[in-house]
Amino acid sequence: MKVKGNRLSLKAIKGVLPCELIRWEAHYIPEAESTQDVAAEIFQKRLKPGIFVATNYQTRGRGRESRAWLSPRGDSLLFSLVLFPGNAPSHLRLLTMTMALSLCEAVRSHLGLKPEVKWPNDVLINGKKVCGILTEMMKTQEGEQAVIMGVGLNVNQNASAFPAEIRNSATSLSLEKSLKIPRLPLLAAIMKAFEDHYFLYQRGLFPEIIRKWKNYSSILGRHVTLRSGKREIQGVVIDLEDSGALVLRLDTGKTESFLSCDCLLE
Ligand code: BTN
Repeated sequence: MKVKGNRLSLKAIKGVLPCELIRWEAHYIPEAESTQDVAAEIFQKRLKPGIFVATNYQTRGRGRESRAWLSPRGDSLLFSLVLFPGNAPSHLRLLTMTMALSLCEAVRSHLGLKPEVKWPNDVLINGKKVCGILTEMMKTQEGEQAVIMGVGLNVNQNASAFPAEIRNSATSLSLEKSLKIPRLPLLAAIMKAFEDHYFLYQRGLFPEIIRKWKNYSSILGRHVTLRSGKREIQGVVIDLEDSGALVLRLDTGKTESFLSCDCLLE
């Protein structure tokens, strides 16, 4: 069945979520402070993975490093998923990369655009950020780790919707495509791509995920600055390990792997 439409509702969302691998429990809140918090509250009661929470508008959306995530009502796809990633520390990063890869595949195949992943967890088009992923951890009473993964995808924003300080570095799918983009078919494409890649993730096929991720990478071979707290490191990205760690040939000539930091392209 061909999915159509832009208006989000519980019924519409239930209609587009795939159901082969994960039995999603869908929630739609027309206006939420943050889907991350709603998903966490539901998880505290249900203690199970597969919770999916979407909204049309967030009053306190947040990004990484406590930055605000702002979006006008009805212009974005804003959702959070609860997943059980396993207990290895690198699983968190790999899960985020699995989502970034899925977003890229969906945006490319559904809209014919050329998205790129920027390590560790942004999606860019023409060098501008179109999507951010926020991965937060929770523990069940039994000590099992749960991940709440939030996605903010700019779909139909005009340039004026972005605050002046990020107007040159942020974009929306609609700006890149010069078309208004219905959100439901896009959500269907993203979640289908995520289910396909989550299948690889669950089977531990991490090299396959990394191989696919590299196809969308904007940083392999580039000279970058990594910022980790107060430390700044410069060098050329030479590879990505199967754990998702970035391998850098430093300007000093030494090779070093990095697990998580902000990456600035030059
Ligand atoms: C980033 O790039 O800093 C990550 C941004 C993540 C934003 C999404 S929007 C849906 C979910 N709810 C939130 O409050 N944040 C995430």
